[in-house]
Formats: sequence, C-alpha cells, structure tokens
Amino acid sequence: TDRYAVFGNPIAHSKSPLIHGLFAAETEQALEYEALLAPIDGFETSLSEFWLNEGKGANVTVPFKEQAFKLCDELSELAQLAGAVNTLTLLENGHVRGDNTDGLGLVADLQRNFGSLVGKQILLLGAGGAARGCILPMLNAGIAELCIHNRTHEKAIVLAELFSEYGDIRAVVANELIASFDIIINSTSSSLSGDVPQIPESVIDGETNCYDMMYSKQITSFNSWGSSLGASKVVDGLGMLVGQAAKSFELWRGVKPKVAPALDALRVKLD
Ligand code: ATR
Repeated sequence: TDRYAVFGNPIAHSKSPLIHGLFAAETEQALEYEALLAPIDGFETSLSEFWLNEGKGANVTVPFKEQAFKLCDELSELAQLAGAVNTLTLLENGHVRGDNTDGLGLVADLQRNFGSLVGKQILLLGAGGAARGCILPMLNAGIAELCIHNRTHEKAIVLAELFSEYGDIRAVVANELIASFDIIINSTSSSLSGDVPQIPESVIDGETNCYDMMYSKQITSFNSWGSSLGASKVVDGLGMLVGQAAKSFELWRGVKPKVAPALDALRVKLD
C-alpha cells in the first residue's frame, strides 16, 4: 500500500488523515495516510526517514511549510511564489517536488460558496504566510482587484509588490477602506483569540460575502462581525482545508475526490 503522511508540530488534532481516508474510500484507492509529529528542530530528518521508509507523498503544515519549500528539488510556480510548500511528492527519479495547494483550495471553496470570482472586488485581511499562499490563485481566477490590508502596513506593501506583475493588487490602509467589497477574506490569526481586524464597517453591505480561513464549530469572531453588519453570506475555512487536501490527493493519485461529502462528514465531527 502506498504511504502518505502529514508533518506538523503539533499534529495530534490534524484532520488530514480523516479527510484523505474518506477520499481514498470514495475513489477506491489503496493507500495509507498518517499524521507524523516532527520535532521543531527535526523536520528534515523526519522527512528523510519517511522517504527511506517507502513514503510516496506528504502534506506539510505549521510550522514547517517554509522549511519544506527549501528542501525541494523542484517547485511548482504556485509554490515558488507562495514561498511555502504544503504538498511534497517523491518523483520516479528520486527528486522531491513541492506544490502549494492552499490557494487552490481557497479559490475552489470561494467559487463553491459564492459563485464565479470573475470581476469581483476582493479585500484580503492579513499579510502572513496564509495570505501569501493564496494571492496568485485568486489573481488567476479573474477577479477585478485584490486589496490587501494588514495591521502592519509594510507587510501588505511587500506582498502587493511581489505579486504586482500577476494582476491588479494594491496594499490599502484602513482610511482608504470606504466602499464595500464583494468578498472579504480574513487570513489573519485574529479569530484564534476572538478578535477582529480593525477595519471600517463600510466595507460590508448586504451583498458582501465574508470568508474566514479559520474554522470552528461555533461561528468565528470575524464571521460573527460580518454577519452582524448584514453580510450576505459568511463561510469558514473548513472547506478550504478539504479543498487543499483534494488538490494534493489529485496530484498524488491522478483522480479528483469529491469535496462536499468529506466536508459534511468533517463538519459534524467538529468540537
Ligand atoms: P500565517 O502564516 O497564519 O499567516 P503569520 O505569518 O504569523 O501567520 O501572520 C499572521 C497574520 O495575522 C499577520 O498578518 C498579523 O498581522 P501583523 O502582520 O500586523 O502581525 C495578523 N494578525 C494576528 N493577530 C491579529 C489581530 N488580533 N488583529 C489583526 N491582525 C492580526
């Protein structure tokens, strides 16, 4: 049986083994997928052991995505621009290829929930690794403009410059946020502490859709804020998680698993 794994620290609560198990059953693929805890200073060693022990592919999560990027022999364009890798594949020639499927997972989930992104005005909150990994797939989805706002403005400027040749992208300070957006995406970790980024309420009108990359059984603090301001729809990031897993699975196995049934199965297990 082909062997796959997700590496992270911590990793005990990872939902990836469950998701890939559901995908394997649905597509009738014989494979094993486990969660592996790598020591904070021992990711490279853990990964080498995994390849020596017949590992075929791996997902990488916090805090190893940037390190994984540096260890690859080959990188997809998305991974190169993200500066981070969440999917590793051992190739026939022994090379390790790095991909980043996080942004593709996000875009697929935005489309599934909100429809086509063509011509949409989008506000991205945050300028950390999570934001960076998603910018190119969004620009490639035909959006009108991507505005990035971050508490630390300089980081938003750096990202806007990095991606300027790929589409319409602009770093904005809070004062410039006057008109409403079609979609607002929260990539900050603020919901983890029950906070909401400080932005004017005018960014939301009755047609605005909100998306929080965080997820939880209860509504996230960002989505609760959007909802209270009358947003049209608010969605959390569980579908992005399943979506990135589906893209990884497809890279490894060459078959597309169904996202919706896995997402439903996962949602009822949230605690
Ligand atoms: P990740 O890889 O998850 O993006 P990160 O690189 O640590 O993690 O980035 C965290 C992001 O959340 C940053 O954009 C951070 O803003 P700063 O760059 O100003 O630090 C943002 N963030 C975290 N907590 C926040 C809060 N309470 N309000 C607003 N932004 C917050």
